[in-house]
Amino acid sequence: MSILLTGGAGFIGSHTALVLLEAGYDVVILDNLCNASRESLSRVEEITGRDLSFIEGDIRDGDALDALFARHAIEAVVHFAGLKAVGESTARPLAYYDNNVTGTLSLCEAMQRAGVFTLVFSSSATVYTESSTMPLAEDAPTGRPSNPYGSSKLMIEWLLRDLQAADPRWSIALLRYFNPVGAHDSGRIGEDPNGMPNNLLPFIAQVAVGRRERVSVFGSDYSTPDGTGVRDYIHVMDLAEGHRAALDVIRQDTGCRTWNLGTGRGYSVLEMITAFERASGRPVPFDKVGRRQGDVAQCWADVTRAGQELGWRAERGLDDIMADAWRWQSANPYGYRG
Ligand code: NAD
Ligand code: UD1
Repeated sequence: MSILLTGGAGFIGSHTALVLLEAGYDVVILDNLCNASRESLSRVEEITGRDLSFIEGDIRDGDALDALFARHAIEAVVHFAGLKAVGESTARPLAYYDNNVTGTLSLCEAMQRAGVFTLVFSSSATVYTESSTMPLAEDAPTGRPSNPYGSSKLMIEWLLRDLQAADPRWSIALLRYFNPVGAHDSGRIGEDPNGMPNNLLPFIAQVAVGRRERVSVFGSDYSTPDGTGVRDYIHVMDLAEGHRAALDVIRQDTGCRTWNLGTGRGYSVLEMITAFERASGRPVPFDKVGRRQGDVAQCWADVTRAGQELGWRAERGLDDIMADAWRWQSANPYGYRG
C-alpha cells in the first residue's frame, strides 16, 4: 500500500516523502510543478536509496486522479498541493480559491470514488484569530484571516469537518503548521522560493550567500522583548516527522482532528538574524523598516495535544535549523537550478 502526497515535490512535501520512504512506506507523488522542480524528488531518491512514483498532474483534474487511484493501491493521502504566497493571494484571490479550495474538493471527490478515506491536510497557524495570549492551543478561536490564502485554509478546514461529519468513514488530520524552516541535514534538499522570498529565513539565507544585500526587518515597535515580531520556527524535518506520526494515528481510527505542529517557543526577527550569522559565519546586514500589513506581533504554539495524542514533539533547535538552512543555501545558492 502507498501514501499519495499531493504537492509532494515542494518544500514540505519533499522532506515528508523522504521521512515516509525511510520509514518503509511506498510513496506516490502528484504535483503540477507550478512551484517545484522534479529535481527535489531525484535527490530524495538519491538520499534514501529508494524509488518513488511521480505523476505530473493537477489535483483539479478528476480524470488524472481517477487514473492515479486505479493504478496505485493508495491507503492514505497527505495533501500539500496549493498556492501559498500571502501577498499574491490578495492580488489573485480567484486563483487561490480555485487551486486550494476547488482543488481540495476535487481531491476529496476522487478519494471518495476510489474508496480512500484517510487524509492529512496542510493547514496553517494563520487560521487563528489574532490574540495577545500565547501560546495558541487548537481550541483557540479561528477568525477572519486577513488575506485570501488564510481564508482558503480555513474554508478547507470547514469543508473537511463537514465531510467527515456527513460520512464517518473519513479519518482526517488538520495539521496547523507554525513557521516551517530549515532543510534536510544532507544539504541536498531544502526551500527553493521562486523570485523574491516572502518569508524571513529564505531571505536571510539569500543575503548571507550574497544574492541580496540587506534584510528589511518589518516593524521594531511591537510589544515584544526587542520590538520585532516573534514566531514559532519549526525545523522542516520535525514537521515531516509530525506527518508520519499523524498518519500512524489516523490510520487506526476515524474522525476529524486538529493538531498544532510547532515547537512551543518563539524567536524574534533579530534573534533569527543573529543565529544565522552565528551558523554561517557571514554578516547579515539589515534595516529596520515599517510593519508589514497583516503581520501579528507574536505567534507560537501550544504543542501539548500533539505530544499527548501523536507522541510527537519537535526535537531540533534553532542552531540545527540555521546550520541546516545554511548548508542547503551555501551548497545550492540558486536552489535546484544550481
Ligand atoms: P510549496 O509551494 O513548496 O509546495 C506546494 C506544492 O504543490 C508545489 O510543489 C506545487 O508545485 C504544488 N501544487 C500547487 N498547486 C497544485 C495543484 N493544483 N495540483 C498539483 N500540485 C500543485 O509549499 P510548501 O511550503 O511545501 O507548503 C505545502 C503546504 O503547506 C501548502 O498547502 C501550504 O499552504 C502549507 N503551509 C505552508 C507553510 C509554509 O510556511 N511553508 C505554512 C503553513 C502551511
Ligand atoms: C507568513 C504568512 C502566513 C503563512 C506563513 C507561512 C503573512 C502575513 N503571513 O507568516 O500566512 O502561513 O508565512 O508561509 O505573510 N519578516 C521580516 N522581514 C522579511 C520577512 C519577514 O522582518 O523580509 C518578519 C515578519 O514581519 C514576521 C517574521 O519575520 O515577524 C516571520 O515572517 P514570515 O517568514 O513571512 O512568516 P509569517 O509572517 O509568520
